[in-house]
Amino acid sequence: MSDMLFKNLAAAPGDPILSISEAFRADTRAEKVNLSVGVYLDESGKTPILDVVKDAKFALAQSSIPHSYTAIRGLEGYRAAVQKMVFGADSEVVLSGRAATVQTPGGTGALKVGMDFMHYVMGVEAGATSVPTWGNHNALLQLANLKELHYPYYDAANHCVDFDAMMTGLKALPAKTLVVLHSCCHNPTGYDLNEAQWREVLQLCQTNGLIPFLDMAYQGFGKGLEEDAFAIRLFAESGMSFMVATSYSKSFNLYSERIGALTVVTQNAIEAQNVLTQLEGVIRCNYSTPPAFGGRIVEYVLSDPERYARWEVELTGMRTRIQRMRHALADEMARVGAKRDFAFVTHQAGMFSFTGLSPEQIDRLAKEYAIYAVRNGRFCICGLNDSNVKYVAQSVAAVL
Ligand code: LMR
Repeated sequence: MSDMLFKNLAAAPGDPILSISEAFRADTRAEKVNLSVGVYLDESGKTPILDVVKDAKFALAQSSIPHSYTAIRGLEGYRAAVQKMVFGADSEVVLSGRAATVQTPGGTGALKVGMDFMHYVMGVEAGATSVPTWGNHNALLQLANLKELHYPYYDAANHCVDFDAMMTGLKALPAKTLVVLHSCCHNPTGYDLNEAQWREVLQLCQTNGLIPFLDMAYQGFGKGLEEDAFAIRLFAESGMSFMVATSYSKSFNLYSERIGALTVVTQNAIEAQNVLTQLEGVIRCNYSTPPAFGGRIVEYVLSDPERYARWEVELTGMRTRIQRMRHALADEMARVGAKRDFAFVTHQAGMFSFTGLSPEQIDRLAKEYAIYAVRNGRFCICGLNDSNVKYVAQSVAAVL
């Protein structure tokens, strides 16, 4: 063989989050537990199809909508529903038409389109993420040719946000840096800013000419749909231009349908129209047009008050189960006499808990106890249930 094209190509390392589920699936031990990927599981360890989603699928099957191309920007009804969810139905941003929303393949698709737009269209040179952050944020910045910068976020010793360090880090960023902020349910730490802290971050972004990119993949998993949108609505009310990435993977259990949205908030409806056409250019080169099915399901549910209310009840059920498991883990850790107090787990929001476990301790959990988590010490609390929480607590206590 003379063709040397791939001869020196090394294998890429597995994805630090998604590859763990593959190892979990391959494990044959009956007691195995998956605390890695951010996917909701119910008491029986399955990702349930929500009842309201079942209804939507049934209705869509009856309606026989042709599988023609979706518009580059996505489904009209879906895009309108997203704006209402994110900003509130009577928000000035929605009513004035100064926000441009495009349907994207998941939250990752929204981040990709937003970052490409900022770099290749707007000429932005750098992007900053929290330390720590969801690993894909940094990978996406790199792929969009944005210089990767960081700001401190987490105080490991005290189990909280290191807000002073965060503000110092943000102040050091050059103007026109794209700043990725987790608007709720910070991934991986589970620690969010309070309202007063968000006000300070907003003011700094305005004063220093930073470009906020608020990532909200977990709306409804923190305190509730409205409460979790606080930061985005605050930024919207301020009148500044910024971007928002949202996802319905989590809140509708529609992971495989890749359904998200990118919204760019501008100064007026003319700017929004221009941005929309530019986003369409970016989308056309990335994936041409978005898939329709997930968008149709979300639109079907969000556009009808009765279905919306039923969905909110189901979402609340998921959130409260996760919160119950946080308490169960902390209680069990205390009961087994763990060397460390795990009460902090109950103060975190969303699906994740940053446990403070080292990569070596996480490796031991996988090897010796068939418990899989991300090596940075992140547990997805959704993997816990009444049947396995004692086992997980005993195992964690044993590796401390
Ligand atoms: C996670 O952080 O586990 C989720 O957002 C899933 C993913 O794509 O990484």
